[in-house]
Formats: sequence, C-alpha cells, structure tokens
Amino acid sequence: MNNNPLNIVVVGTGMYVCGRGTDGYGTILPAVYEWARCGCMGDLYIVGIHIEGINTVKRKVEKLNRLFGLEIEPKYFPDSDNCDPEAYKVAIRDIPRPACAIVVAPDHLHRDIAGDAVGNNIHTLVVKPLAPTVKEVVELIGLQEKSGVYCAVEFHKRLDRSNLKLRDTVVSGKIGNPLYFIVEYSQRKSIPEEKFKSWVEDTNVFQYLGIHYVDIIYFVTGAIPRRVMAIGQKNYLSSKGIDNFDSIQVVVEWEMPSGALFSSVLLTNWIDPESSSAMSNQRIKVVGTKGRYEADQKKRGICVTSDEEGIEEPNPDFCSMYGSRNGDISFQGYGIDSITRFLKDVTQIESGQLKVEELENRRPTFKESIVPTVIIEAVNRSIVEDGRWVNTVFENSRFSRFE
Ligand SMILES: NC(=O)c1ccc[n+]([C@@H]2O[C@H](COP(=O)([O-])OP(=O)(O)OC[C@H]3O[C@@H](n4cnc5c(N)ncnc54)[C@H](O)[C@@H]3O)[C@@H](O)[C@H]2O)c1
Repeated sequence: MNNNPLNIVVVGTGMYVCGRGTDGYGTILPAVYEWARCGCMGDLYIVGIHIEGINTVKRKVEKLNRLFGLEIEPKYFPDSDNCDPEAYKVAIRDIPRPACAIVVAPDHLHRDIAGDAVGNNIHTLVVKPLAPTVKEVVELIGLQEKSGVYCAVEFHKRLDRSNLKLRDTVVSGKIGNPLYFIVEYSQRKSIPEEKFKSWVEDTNVFQYLGIHYVDIIYFVTGAIPRRVMAIGQKNYLSSKGIDNFDSIQVVVEWEMPSGALFSSVLLTNWIDPESSSAMSNQRIKVVGTKGRYEADQKKRGICVTSDEEGIEEPNPDFCSMYGSRNGDISFQGYGIDSITRFLKDVTQIESGQLKVEELENRRPTFKESIVPTVIIEAVNRSIVEDGRWVNTVFENSRFSRFE
C-alpha cells in the first residue's frame, strides 16, 4: 500500500453530510469515521458557504469523536463569518495530494463544484444525481477523461442486498424477459417544506427520489431508455407557497441489449405524513415472462413501538448506528459501504493496485450517469408539456453498457 494517507475534502454541511436538522449524523461523516479506522486517512477538509453550516458540522464532529473514541480535527472552509459560496475552490487547491473530493451540495451546483475538483486532478464522488442536464454530465465526463482521475456517483442502492438479489434474479433469466417494473418511493413532507427549503425549487421529487430506482433498473437490466412521459400534481406544496410538484408519475420505455422492450412506472411523492413509520416508503416489483420479483424495501422486518416515538419501522440496512457506549459504536449499511468503497478504490488506485479503467462497468461512474440524467431531462420536459412522450437521445442508437 501507498504510505501517503488519503486526504478528503467534503463539500457540503447539510443533512446528508452530518444530519443537519436531525438527531442523527447523516451518512457521509459516519462513513468517513468508519474509514478512519483503517489508519490510512489523512487530513479532512469540510467546506460550506457560511459559518452557521460550519458550526453545525463542528458540533456533530465533537459528538462523533466521542462516539468513535477518535480525535479527528477537520479543517473548515470558510472558518470566519464571511459567506463564501466559492470556499470550495480554496480547499480544493490547498488540500495536499493524494486527495479525493466528496461533493454533497444541492444538485444544480454539482457541475461547477465537481468540475473544479476533477479539473484539479482530484478523484471525485458526487451524490446523485450527477447533474440535472445531459450537457453538464457530458462536460464532467470530458473533464474526467482529460484528467484521468476516478469519478463516481454515490448511487448507494446498488449495494442494497435487496437490489443485488433483484439483479441476480433478472440476469439469471429465472423470471424471463422483464415486461414491466413498478416502483413506489415517497418521503415525509418535512423534506421539501423544511429540510430542502433553500433549494427546493431547483429540484423535484423525481430528481430527488425517483432517480435512485432509474439507476437500479439500468444497473439490473443494462437496458437503455427509448422514450419517457411524466405528469405531476401541484396541490399541497403550492398551498404552502412552494412552487413544486407533490407527486410525479413517470413511464419509461426501455430496450434490453437483446432488443426486447419493457416499461417502468415510477410513482414518487414527498408529502407523506410526518407520522409515517419510516422516512422512506419504497418498494420495487418486476414482472417478467417467466415470473416476478417483489421487494418491500420499507418493511425490513423491524417494528419498534414506544410511548415517545409511536410506531417506527427502521431500515437497518442503509446507515444505522450500532452500539451505545462511547468508543464502542459502529455505523453500518449500504450508505456507509458505498462511500468507504470509493475511498478504498481511490487508495488502491493511488498505490498502483487498481487502474481507473478497470472500474468502468463495475461502478456507477460518471459515464454510467448519462442514462439517469437523460431520463431526468426528458421528465422535466414532458411534465411541462402535458405528459407528451419525449424520445431520448438513444432513440435510434444501439448504445448499451454491455456492448
Ligand atoms: N439527504 C439525503 O438523504 C440524501 C441522500 C442522497 C443524496 N443526497 C443529495 O445530497 C445533496 C445535498 O443534500 P442534503 O440532504 O445534504 O441537503 P441540505 O440542504 O441539507 O444541504 C446542502 C448543503 O450544501 C451546502 N452548500 C450549498 N452551496 C454550497 C457551496 N457553494 N459550497 C459548499 N457547500 C454548499 C449548504 O450549506 C448545505 O449545507 C443533494 O444533491 C441530494 O440530492 C441527499
């Protein structure tokens, strides 16, 4: 192994980084702490835009240090009262190499922030979606090719065993040729109303939730999307002064590498009651010519009932804290694994054990993200054109990840 420890710059100080606005710690920081146990972590830089965000992270870092029995001391940007939306540029230039970046800012900023990291030869992981437009994804792929660094998108559902079993079932041919997928995915109304208040009008529920399962369908089938239609409803959120869809329903027609067609119906909302028993209500079903695969990914077999919290159905598989004594806890799940896997891949690339090209077709690389973003763009067009079918750029091409 390389003797130079890997330095990490995390851009973002929000819910996913540290659990801003929740009692928890988010996913990125717990994963970085789990990674720190391997002893090959260098410096940690954390970037926000203003001191309030930085102070939130500082409080969570203090608690995580106690829980893990570690003494991680990140360097923060900005570390003064100045509001600086470009502080990431300073961190990216300053961080000693070898280094990687984890970009966890709102969707519409991914292109510029990730582009700066990749352009400065830093291996980069971006939370989904890579970007809302195909033009931005193509630009990022161009920058990746030029710099030769490893670039991936944090599509953690690819590591959920429930989806790995789905993939094996479809690939084995056991259920025949897929005819249709049905996906339902929703979250509580506090997400658009409170958590994403500052940028809710720059995204929508399909781009936020539905895109996870678009990537899963692509991962499982290797198919390409031919055409897309979408409709949505503005009712509850608009009554609260938020100009966005409560729910979006999408139909995608896909073509398998064999030429066989199937469709997927993706039903998403983010106006579930706060009293719902889980943050994510999610299920996927596929019906094929020889059988079906059904996974209730909300009900994972655990139900906790208490005076204080009512009925809860936690997901032990995503990002869960285990243990309770300071110094003797761990965070486990596919959310943790997808980040530590990136850090391990980068460490192996830096030590010469792995080549960036070897990860193409094995990881959700920037190139793999063309398909999800083609669908986001088509959905965003169809939904404002009264649900018109929109043909994708792949309409007449033979592109497939398996070719
Ligand atoms: N919350 C989740 O469970 C989750 C899961 C997977 C992916 N994501 C993705 O993560 C991204 C962020 O989501 P979140 O839930 O943390 O949102 P959030 O609103 O809680 O946090 C966004 C953060 O980005 C920071 N930011 C904004 N502009 C910045 C800039 N110029 N430089 C540095 N930081 C900047 C803000 O200060 C804020 O801390 C989104 O793309 C989202 O889709 C979130």
